[in-house]
Amino acid sequence: MSSYDTYKYDVLVIGAGGAGLRAAIEASSQGVTVGLICKSLLGKAHTVMAEGGIAAAMANVDDRDNWKVHFTDTLRGGQYLNNWQMAEIHAKEAPVCVRELEAWGALFDRTEDGKILQRNFGGHKYPRLAHVGDRTGLEMIRTLQDHCIYQGVEVHMECTIITLLKDGDRVVGAFGYERERGRFKTFHAKAVILATGGVGRSFKISSNSWEYTGDGHALAYEAGAELIDMEFLQFHPTGMIWPPSVRGILVTEGVRGEGGILLNKNGERFMFNSIPDAYKNQTSDNEEEGWRYIQGDKDAKRPPELLTRDHVARCIVREIKEGRGSPHGGVYLDISWIKKKISNSEEHIRKKLPGMFHMFKKLADIDITKVPMEIGPTTHYMMGGIRVHAETQMSTLPGLFAAGECGAGLHGANRLGGNSLSDLLVFGKRAGEYAAKFAKENKAGAIDEKQINETEKYALQPFERENGDSPFDVQFALQDMMQQWVGIVRNEEEMLRAKEHLRLLRKRSANVFVNGNREFNPGWHTALDLRNMLIASEAITMAALERKESRGAHFREDYPDKDPNCGKYNLVIKQNASGEMTIRQEPIPEIREDLKKIIEEMK
Ligand code: FUM
Repeated sequence: MSSYDTYKYDVLVIGAGGAGLRAAIEASSQGVTVGLICKSLLGKAHTVMAEGGIAAAMANVDDRDNWKVHFTDTLRGGQYLNNWQMAEIHAKEAPVCVRELEAWGALFDRTEDGKILQRNFGGHKYPRLAHVGDRTGLEMIRTLQDHCIYQGVEVHMECTIITLLKDGDRVVGAFGYERERGRFKTFHAKAVILATGGVGRSFKISSNSWEYTGDGHALAYEAGAELIDMEFLQFHPTGMIWPPSVRGILVTEGVRGEGGILLNKNGERFMFNSIPDAYKNQTSDNEEEGWRYIQGDKDAKRPPELLTRDHVARCIVREIKEGRGSPHGGVYLDISWIKKKISNSEEHIRKKLPGMFHMFKKLADIDITKVPMEIGPTTHYMMGGIRVHAETQMSTLPGLFAAGECGAGLHGANRLGGNSLSDLLVFGKRAGEYAAKFAKENKAGAIDEKQINETEKYALQPFERENGDSPFDVQFALQDMMQQWVGIVRNEEEMLRAKEHLRLLRKRSANVFVNGNREFNPGWHTALDLRNMLIASEAITMAALERKESRGAHFREDYPDKDPNCGKYNLVIKQNASGEMTIRQEPIPEIREDLKKIIEEMK
């Protein structure tokens, strides 16, 4: 017989980063009761790793910007695999969401005439990222968190969900445990929103902290929802690489937005040799012009360091592989070079990039105003995730919604920096609104006690075994393997090897054992996270094997070119009745005529 605490809400939000908080605020403002589940402490979320800003065509710095340019940039960055309806909604609604955040108390850097300041970022045609120094995500979380508490949302901190509860096809709640004491909790809800973030912990080098184990992806998949675009995982070009303890920590793209350049060990600015045709008309091939762009010259072309992340990350990997890397296996990112251009460069860097200045000083004993940083790519963001309806954010299961990184569609094959923060505001808000509507229109479903009993039994199994693998060993093996074989550069042979290893790791994970009891037990937590990490890893590998071309963040050395036929579909993953993972191609719907025209005009 199970023993658990029960909570009832109209809307349950699982995940308390930017998307979850925004969804909770919206749902509660529609007059329904809302519970919010946070895997760690409130305020600790990957959202804070989006340091450089929120992408929104507010045209505060360059009045040529508007939603149409933002829409086109997003599709070009996503290599046209994006859900174009989401891209349209996002580009139109992002500015309103930024202003709303400001009205709730968020601080932003300012232009001289007092507007919200916007900075350059990769793949964005005009300066578009509303920011506060290099701590924008943090400011966003602080603001949303305050507002959420003020709205009366009930928060369950340090709580992990193990399964979604179902009544027929409909999702009617969730079952999980409180991490501190290990007590089980049942949440009964008329609508559930997943906002659990990404999957980065399945890889060895990652900007993601311990929470990001693909929970939402796996919960939705196991409940029968569809996943889409799982082959597209973003490796941010610039993570710290030295000392080893800080490897993977994000170095914001804002550094390049403020003029930072990439150099190899010979001091060559290698990005000049690697400008793709699609971006030639917007990208400068000389230092002088690139710097003028950074300084705000509207006629100048952008420096090549501000090309899209997929491309920049691959160029860095090429330099390293071909022996032109830095001593610790990266390349150099140099912002200190601007001393050649401006007299107050040290003060300027400290003002624009205070977080980076302190981070490198404290963690690596490097003064970035004086010397270059050593950096390398880091697993940062999952473009793929739960398939949702563009307007409502409802998944393919009734009552289940998704927003933020664990939802998918907006970014296609590659996300532009800054589009994550606007994504979570725009679609977090929509998820909250439509989940509240669903909750008002539907009675609570029935909770299946058998499902709860079975889940509880499953969760406690690692304590019952007398021996077996350590969950940490299985986790490390998975991270090593995914990094090596399903990372930035992929090929068939390695991915088939990865597939086989995943099968073995699944077996090992079903046999892990943990010591001690349910209180404060990280081994147990990891044992339960493994299932999610393995599901996400299998979906990534399966989709990456299926896409026999290179596009956006997915690069295959055995198929190095883009195949126009592969640009016509997304890959959809779903569990079949026997519990196996299946994959199918789904044609991308024909883009609306008016939007087609906009893309043509922008060319
Ligand atoms: O580089 C950054 O500041 C990250 C931004 C993002 O991922 O959107």
